[in-house]
Amino acid sequence: MLIAQLSDFHYRPKGVRLFGYVDVHAATVAAVDWVNRHQPLIDAVIVTGDLVNDGDADDYAALADVLSALRAPYAVITGNHDVRGPLAEAFPIPDAGVDGKYCWAREFEAIRIVGLDTLVEGQALGTLGPSQLGWLDAVLAESSQPTLVALHHPPFMTGITFMDAFPLTDAEAFRAIVEKHGHVEAVLAGHIHRVIHRRFAGTIAMTGPGTAHQVVMDLTAETKPRWVMEPAGCLLHQWTPQTGLVSHAAWFGDYGAQAPFHSDHRTVPIGG
Ligand SMILES: [Fe+2]
Repeated sequence: MLIAQLSDFHYRPKGVRLFGYVDVHAATVAAVDWVNRHQPLIDAVIVTGDLVNDGDADDYAALADVLSALRAPYAVITGNHDVRGPLAEAFPIPDAGVDGKYCWAREFEAIRIVGLDTLVEGQALGTLGPSQLGWLDAVLAESSQPTLVALHHPPFMTGITFMDAFPLTDAEAFRAIVEKHGHVEAVLAGHIHRVIHRRFAGTIAMTGPGTAHQVVMDLTAETKPRWVMEPAGCLLHQWTPQTGLVSHAAWFGDYGAQAPFHSDHRTVPIGG
């Protein structure tokens, strides 16, 4: 069972460049293509929020069109850049989990994924809220199947000061619920546009890279948010009954020819 985690498309339609220079349409098409060509085949795709940049209904429709090329079944969750109404219209779920939130639980072969909604419209921070947390507790109690819990805002401080300014406000209440359910294999987040892992509630929590632009690697007290065009990529979560969940980061793009390991491991001097 192989699950790709794509994140933070910040989609805008073909011909529009985000910030004047990021071709997010081409980046999203490239991500879909990468997933489709991957060997072994990818069985499911989870998109961890910030599907579009500006919340436009037309952008959601155009994104749904791009994602319709995915060969694997996929599911999405909200991010702080999303707007719930048009998102739900483009990516309908059978019924809103609770309080009109875009949350859902779905089985992808052996793995169950619970998608949560941290969106507080118009704000960059995230909140689950007591009713959605109660729903999560009940949904996790329904089944002991290996489960991934997906939410946009990571439930931990990352050390990147300008991103920690927009946290998950009820991370502690979320932690207390996840801790009760030992079958949660991992908590998957986006938002940070970088790969970060942290021990969390008896499981592991991680954030994935963006499929287009990345957040600058900065562990100082700098408060000014900045993007950078480091390589785009995704997380690949492989699960088997024997290994449990093993998560990889993978980068899109061409990094040159593959070279075999040599039987002769001697260091060759430069120019030698
Ligand atoms: Fe984002």
